[in-house]
Amino acid sequence: MFARKFFVGGNWKMNGDKESLGELIMTLNTASLHDETEVVCGAPSIYLDYARSNLDQRIGVAAQNCYKVSKGAFTGEISPAMIKDCGVDWVILGHSERRHVFGESDELIGQKVAHCLESDLGVIACIGEKLEEREAGTTEDVVFAQTKVIADNVKDWSGVVLAYEPVWAIGTGRTASPAQAQEVHEKLRGWLRANVSDAVADSVRIIYGGSVTAANCKELAAQADVDGFLVGGASLKPEFVDIINARS
Ligand code: PGA
Repeated sequence: MFARKFFVGGNWKMNGDKESLGELIMTLNTASLHDETEVVCGAPSIYLDYARSNLDQRIGVAAQNCYKVSKGAFTGEISPAMIKDCGVDWVILGHSERRHVFGESDELIGQKVAHCLESDLGVIACIGEKLEEREAGTTEDVVFAQTKVIADNVKDWSGVVLAYEPVWAIGTGRTASPAQAQEVHEKLRGWLRANVSDAVADSVRIIYGGSVTAANCKELAAQADVDGFLVGGASLKPEFVDIINARS
């Protein structure tokens, strides 16, 4: 048996409309989903309420970003309190598109992590190296530094899932090999063991993201330290069901 509950997040990004997301929701609601897998769909903020109202309760919902305070004069932002008010229990933070398209710093991501956890919102915290960093042999330094900023802002790890998403694998069709994913996940767990605690290292789910598909998910899911996935493109398709069921 696996020690940690398998966790599969879908990241819809800025895709879909009520019609197409409604169809996807119907597919998920009527699918046979592995009981031992926790499933969360990351909806665009304007559809969070729609997703939560229509998805079956066995499927969680996540926001894709939020701000670091509960309310105020921050035009265009949403707060953890608002996300919770829509019945949504998770947020994705630090996604590479937030870091690299919108220029979010490690510091801001850390502040968001702290405030979300204080607000009792679960956090899917994303980290990952760029291609040039991998090629320069600095993958470990990059992901450890990103993880440290997150860890410095976490008191209770029970609400945190760590998502390792190599930037070069996101949306490129170039998935990390099972061995590449396992190598980084194992090192991240070792970092948690050395810098946080054995209990946290043993219990925190470390999920992989970057071009996960129905075709490659089973081999990735069989790796000892891969505890699930964060899925972009394939989470908008019926094959997301096969990815959820990768370990069944
Ligand atoms: P992808 O995206 O599955 O389309 O590569 C993953 C992600 O960005 O979370």
